This record gives sequence, C-alpha cells and structure tokens, in this order.
Amino acid sequence: MIIICGCLVIIIATAIAIVRSKKPMDLIMAEAKYEMMYNAMGSRALLQDWMMRKDNKTDLLPQPGKIAVITGGARGIGAEVVKMLMKCDITVVIGCRNVQAAEMMLKKYRDEGLDKGDIDAFQLDISYLDSVRNFAATVTEKYPKINYLINNAGIMFGPRIETRDGYESQFATNYLGHFLLTHLLFDSLKKAGDAKCNSRIVNVSSCAHLAGAINFDDINYRSRYITSEAYAQSKLAQILFTNYLYTLCKNEGHHIQLHSIHPGIVNTELFDGTNLKNLAPWLPNLMFKNPEQGAIPIVHACLSPELEGKGGTYIHNCRIFPTSELAQDEELQKKLFDFTKTLIGIEHFGVTT
Ligand SMILES: NC(=O)c1ccc[n+]([C@@H]2O[C@H](COP(=O)([O-])OP(=O)(O)OC[C@H]3O[C@@H](n4cnc5c(N)ncnc54)[C@H](OP(=O)(O)O)[C@@H]3O)[C@@H](O)[C@H]2O)c1
Repeated sequence: MIIICGCLVIIIATAIAIVRSKKPMDLIMAEAKYEMMYNAMGSRALLQDWMMRKDNKTDLLPQPGKIAVITGGARGIGAEVVKMLMKCDITVVIGCRNVQAAEMMLKKYRDEGLDKGDIDAFQLDISYLDSVRNFAATVTEKYPKINYLINNAGIMFGPRIETRDGYESQFATNYLGHFLLTHLLFDSLKKAGDAKCNSRIVNVSSCAHLAGAINFDDINYRSRYITSEAYAQSKLAQILFTNYLYTLCKNEGHHIQLHSIHPGIVNTELFDGTNLKNLAPWLPNLMFKNPEQGAIPIVHACLSPELEGKGGTYIHNCRIFPTSELAQDEELQKKLFDFTKTLIGIEHFGVTT
C-alpha cells in the first residue's frame, strides 16, 4: 500500500511538473529518452571504470625538451594532466581563460617539490574563434615545434547559449574551437614528428558520444534544444574529426597520430548544476574517479610507446576501446570535416600561409 501510494505521488508530481513546464509533449519525450540513455551510459561507464581500474595506469617516461599544448589545463582533469607531463620534464603550454590560475598552479606544484618541466600560460577562450587565432599565433611564434596537442577544455549541459560567433556553446567549445586550433598548430606538430616518433593530438571526448549524431540541418539546435543531445553531438564530432584527420595524416605521410579518449566518469566541476549533483551530491565523491585517475588515460594517449603508430584509436582506461558505429563511418567523417572547414573558412586543413 505504501509503495503504491509512493508511486502515485511520483506520477502525480511528474505530471504536474510536465504540465507546468509548458513544453510540447514530443520535446518532453525526447528529453526523457536522452535522460534514460545517459543514465544507462553513465552506469555502464562507471562499471567499466571499476572493472578496468587495474588497466588505468601509465608510465611517466622522461621527455626532456618536449612541448605539449593543452586547453583548459588550469583546473579539473587538465590540471592533473599538466602535473603528470611536468613530471616527465615536458614544457606545458596552457591555453586558459584565467592565466593567473595557471601561474598559481605552477607555484603550487613547485612548492610541492615538482622541480621538473615547466608551464607557460596564455589567454584562450576556446569557444571564441578570434581568441583561438590569437592564442595559436602567440604559441607558434614562441614554439615552432609542438610534440603534443591535448584538446581538453570542455563544458557539459546548461541552458542553450550562443557564442560570440553565433554557435551553440557546447559545439563551439568542445569541437569547433579545437578543430580550428588543431588546424592552426598543425604545421608545428608536423615539424615535431619524425619517422621514429610521431607527434600526437589527443581529443578528450566522452562515452557520451555513444548517444550522439550530427545534426547537419540544424547544427546549432535552434529549432529544438536538448542540452544532453548537443553535448553528445559535440563529443561524437571530436571522434569523427580524430579518425578522419588521422587517415589524412597517414595518406599524406605526416608524422602525426591522433587519439580520442574517454577519461572515465570523473569527479570534477563539470557536473556542477546537473540533476545528478543536485539530487545526490555525495555520489561523485563515492563512486567517480578522482581527477588524477581521469588524467591517466590522457597522458597514456600522449606518451605511451605501445601506442606508437596506432592512431585513430579511442582510449578508455588506457586500453584501445571500440567507439560507436557512427564514429567509424568514413562518409560521415568526411562530411563533417568538409562541413566544418566551410563553416570556419578553411580552404586547406593545416595550411595557414
Ligand atoms: N568529468 C568527467 O566525468 C568527464 C567525462 C567524459 C569526458 N570529460 C571531458 O573531459 C574534459 C575536461 O573536463 P573536466 O571534467 O576536467 O571539467 P572541468 O573541471 O569543468 O574543467 C573544464 C576545463 O575546461 C575549461 N574551459 C571550459 N570552457 C572553456 C573556454 N570557453 N575556453 C577555455 N577553457 C574552457 C575550463 O577552464 P575555466 O577555468 O576557464 O572554466 C576548465 O579548465 C572535457 O572535455 C569533458 O567533456 C569529462
């Protein structure tokens, strides 16, 4: 009797919430579909993190003189990636919105006794194409050779916002800005790679790509916005880009390899404001990876000698893992690549002069 009453209360409360939201029924149904998909994907990924926890390790081999560029390296998973790369004696160029935070981070790491590697931080708002252009110009002038590019900065969910350039914010931040940055740094990456050691581009994607599709007819979701659908699109786009550009590098003989990665389900501020954190704020602390554990697969994708020559792969807990079928679709990869080039006015990818 108590259970039946409980269920009735939930059903009535849900019905009231639906009516008060004044959203059309098809939108409510689509939102519910994404909610269910994310719950299923998230639970599966959590289980995989737990089952594969022994695989989630990598060696921090010395790489003196090497240069890495990372977006969003001043907090979250990125900050831990920076620390690990510094332990390998790498100079890490951080593109971030708060340069002071990156400088404070360097001071903190030095105070902790980390006396190797270095940080050089420059202003970057990855969602704003002119900021990407300015950052890339500054970086390439100072660092003509770049060994690693880690496209890490990202946002998840939140209300629909358009960037200054008029793109949906998750598409612009997670994918479009990084596409442009990769184009602008491509020549420096080409110069750093050789037949013995490729330079590497690591795109920090997510298992959320499994729910993604590319909505070419309305890439900015102006006609219908489901925030989790837009996040999934941006994360799928990163993998399609990874796979297409790697094929291009192989065909054109560039010594560059690309990987996409899923860092795991990691307890960071990315989840702030989500239903999960609002309803069960204790859960991430208890069940998620910590940022250091989330950083390990990213560092592995950058440095692991086992991955040399194995570009175009998706790394999950330091293992090569299958992606969605859509991410493997070569026609879709090309279609998105050409679409993106047109969108931001790139004639030849990687050619900037
Ligand atoms: N946490 C997870 O469970 C999880 C799972 C799968 C994939 N990922 C992916 O992992 C990556 C890192 O996420 P996280 O968990 O570390 O999140 P986080 O703690 O929220 O950190 C996000 C980082 O991205 C930067 N960023 C956001 N928007 C930016 C912009 N417009 N310009 C420049 N930097 C910007 C932030 O810099 P500011 O300090 O300037 O905001 C911050 O450094 C993201 O791509 C995310 O999608 C995370």
